[in-house]
Amino acid sequence: MTDTALVIFTPSGKRGHFALGTPVLTAARQLGVDLDSVCGGRGICSRCQISPGYGEFSKHGVTVAIDALSPWNAVEDRYKRVRGLIDGRRLGCQAQVMGDVVIDVPPESQVHKQVIRKSASDRVMVMDPATRAYYVEVAEPDMHEPTGDFERLSRALAEQDFEKSSSPKSHSSAWEKS
Ligand code: FES
Repeated sequence: MTDTALVIFTPSGKRGHFALGTPVLTAARQLGVDLDSVCGGRGICSRCQISPGYGEFSKHGVTVAIDALSPWNAVEDRYKRVRGLIDGRRLGCQAQVMGDVVIDVPPESQVHKQVIRKSASDRVMVMDPATRAYYVEVAEPDMHEPTGDFERLSRALAEQDFEKSSSPKSHSSAWEKS
């Protein structure tokens, strides 16, 4: 018997070997699995709920024994009595890996769960970006008349009527020069 077990998370498919006794939440964090936790593993928030799967998973090449996770403990028992827990669910911070296991992370336990809007909203979006693109022709640097880039750009903007206004007199015609 080895001291580690294979843990496979679905739907992400992330997997790894962990020492026996590793909490499922710890394994999830080490693999970067999206499994929520608000109470820091104290068995209070229930955001770390998981659904372990048992039996043969030919797709993953693994058979999960009924004792692949540590037995249901007092913290889970209290939570289920007081707040309720769907049958078959475990708290990821309490359940420990004791053998190869496939663990499903339900959508409500995922931090980045998808949000599906059922109806479209009729919202008018006014586009007013803080920056705009303009075509400006700037004089080339001249050794006989030393000027900085900003100075030449300012002069070009003034000459091409961009200076005072936030938009050119004819935006399209400015681009048509290019
Ligand atoms: S992390 Fe809060 S109950 Fe498990």
